[in-house]
Amino acid sequence: MLLLPELAFDIRWEEKAHFSPSIAAAKNVSFDPATGRLGGTAVKKAQSVQTGEVDPLASLSAMLRRFSAAAGSLVEALFPAYNGRLQTARASFRPAEIAGRKTTWRHDDTRLHIDSFPATPVQGRRILRVFTNVNPEGRSRSWRIGEPFEDVAQRFGGQLRMPLPFSGALLGFVGITRGRRSAYDALMLQLHDRMKADVAYQKNTPQTSIDFPAGSTWIVFTDRVSHAAMAGQYQLEQTFLLPVDAMLQPERSPLRILERIKQRPLV
Ligand code: SIN
Ligand code: FE
Repeated sequence: MLLLPELAFDIRWEEKAHFSPSIAAAKNVSFDPATGRLGGTAVKKAQSVQTGEVDPLASLSAMLRRFSAAAGSLVEALFPAYNGRLQTARASFRPAEIAGRKTTWRHDDTRLHIDSFPATPVQGRRILRVFTNVNPEGRSRSWRIGEPFEDVAQRFGGQLRMPLPFSGALLGFVGITRGRRSAYDALMLQLHDRMKADVAYQKNTPQTSIDFPAGSTWIVFTDRVSHAAMAGQYQLEQTFLLPVDAMLQPERSPLRILERIKQRPLV
């Protein structure tokens, strides 16, 4: 995890209107930089926009596009070794307060977990995320960080079951997932669930609390760093995917670690 304590993101005056939980239909608004499409927003397209007025939907997507571009320049400048290999995935705006939110245990991100995407398989690629706390009242975003991935994988590895042959291809074929869910994706989803479901583990595993101040940016391989978001409101996030062969130390990827434990190829 890399913390840039004073790297803020400038919000324009007309974008202040988006700082309400009610702009999201669910917990996040998502943005696909490749298509410019917004998802999960409760903001309606303006029927007609008078001269001098701002279309709220256009303004929201412009804010996310600007953040996405800034995050892209940042990782390009910081990680020249990954040059041309980082793939830009979705961005999100997270306007909901995390503390006290009612959800199922599986969606409860206040429990320590590693990130794994149920609907968009990564097929072994790393998940690198840039987060910026844009809380306008100056409130921190509070996380917990758990034990190293090797320890998580050793602890839960025995409980992870290989998926049935062809089940991953079938999920892709019927459109439940975007593309084939590899054995790696299936095992990472189980690991995410086993961590969150284990209440004693959540309480007793070695962990550190960390507060990210408003106006700070942090960059995390969230598929490897065990994390939980405990409190905070208003955050921007951009996801990148990195092929394992673009890493300087591929043997430290969750893919290679799980392959060593399971003693077989997983993608
Ligand atoms: C998560 O990835 O678990 C949530 C991170 C956050 O929203 O701070
Ligand atoms: Fe997460």
